[in-house]
Amino acid sequence: GCTSVDKQTTFDFVVAANRLPVDAVEREDGEVEWRRSPGGLVTAMDSVMRGRDGAWVGWAGTPGEAPAPFESEGMWLHPVPVSAEEIEHYYEGFSNDTLWPIYHDVIVPARFRRTWWHAYRRVNERFAEAVCEVAAKGATVWVHDYQLQLVPELVRERRPDVRIGWFNHIPFPPVELFAQLPWRAPLLRGLLGADYLGFQRTADAQNFVRACRSYLGATTKGDRVTLPAEDGQPTRTVRASAVPISIDVASLTELARSESVQQRAQEIRASLGDPKTLLLGVDRLDYTKGIRHRLKAYEELFEDGALSCPDVTLVQVATPSRERVDAYKRLRTQIETTVGRINGTYSTVGATAVHYLHQSYDRAEMAALYLAADVMLVTPLRDGMNLVAKEYVACRHDLGGALVLSEFTGAYHELSQAFICNPHDIEGLKQTIMRAITGDERTKRRMMSALRKRVTHNDVTRWANHFLANLEASPEKPA
Ligand code: ADP
Ligand code: G6P
Repeated sequence: GCTSVDKQTTFDFVVAANRLPVDAVEREDGEVEWRRSPGGLVTAMDSVMRGRDGAWVGWAGTPGEAPAPFESEGMWLHPVPVSAEEIEHYYEGFSNDTLWPIYHDVIVPARFRRTWWHAYRRVNERFAEAVCEVAAKGATVWVHDYQLQLVPELVRERRPDVRIGWFNHIPFPPVELFAQLPWRAPLLRGLLGADYLGFQRTADAQNFVRACRSYLGATTKGDRVTLPAEDGQPTRTVRASAVPISIDVASLTELARSESVQQRAQEIRASLGDPKTLLLGVDRLDYTKGIRHRLKAYEELFEDGALSCPDVTLVQVATPSRERVDAYKRLRTQIETTVGRINGTYSTVGATAVHYLHQSYDRAEMAALYLAADVMLVTPLRDGMNLVAKEYVACRHDLGGALVLSEFTGAYHELSQAFICNPHDIEGLKQTIMRAITGDERTKRRMMSALRKRVTHNDVTRWANHFLANLEASPEKPA
């Protein structure tokens, strides 16, 4: 239920993220339809915002004029306009062709364009202004992710009365990589406008603290960064620490326990020809996810004769993502070529080696896929957290299944009891996949049970409360 209201309302709790939880999609008849936005940030924050009376400032996913603010499921959604050129320069350019590769170990080279930086600054200013419009006096403002790193400082300049926190959903790079950014100092200053900065891993927080020492001459003590006094400005101390994100475990478990989802899981297996082993991959189609490495290992296992159709099949769900960025276009071609080759060589009439689905599904269908899969392949080369790994574990109330998990995910730091792999090591990855397939059932159930304890313990509500408590307890309170 969405209602447009023209009155201006202010809120004590304001979230700012590049994307709103829903995207405006124009239908053929010209009517606007709202669809859930992609990615882990929305999965997590959507759960957090339910039951909280707050506003969410973000882009509606379409170019040009922004739709009017409206209420949706208890949230006040405040769209920020982003022009077609800004989408190209701020979103596809600076956010996803400059920052994203630098923050993910330069898996592909980063591109630096001054016009992109200018657009990034401009759009961050617009977001800051929108935040100030909806924030009540003394409000708590929670800024999210790499697209909005200048917003904390820009909000502070305008509104010294509010409390500002920022959470990074992706990794924060080691100083040696961050160093490449021509705009490293203003990015750090932008973040230090916050009272508290949250990261996925302790290593990410430490990378940030080191960068502040190297490029701002800040003094640091443990997880605290102090900026030297500058023309009239007093010194400020900001805390940066790890608060690993999670999912709404209870609601997903409940969904996975529902009769309809369990039945759908069986239907999925049946429609795949009831293979002995069903492997599953679920990712945005992104080069950070290690999909190529996963397919390479899978293909070689067929070549070696360790796997064959119809006993084994892989379902690879790859959500369309950032489709106009060159590196994503190239990846898509590579993946689709590889899938075609594997199927051409190893599928049989009636049994397909790889089911490749370049589509989005609703939560119930995702839960059914997780329940149906014997082995979940999570093989990123670098990933801030990876919520898919946690979702898989949350759905396996039957203690069935096995999780293959890359050590380069944030999730690894909590779920080290999974079948751990280094996706760069194809030989090792093949062995790990085989262990996950052929492992003794009792051992696998014990592993799943241990994983479930970890995931259940730290759910998304706990994460949000932890972040907000750290923000509340930050070194300096506004005057
Ligand atoms: P990222 O944020 O990088 O995309 P995460 O694994 O942290 O990676 O989060 C991805 C989120 O998107 C999860 O909640 C997952 O269930 C969801 N998701 C991934 N692929 C699809 C898809 N094809 N359809 C629907 N939801 C998807
Ligand atoms: C990751 C990022 C989010 C982003 C999401 C989807 O989860 O951390 O900030 O929203 O991917 O990417 P997109 O570019 O489509 O917003």
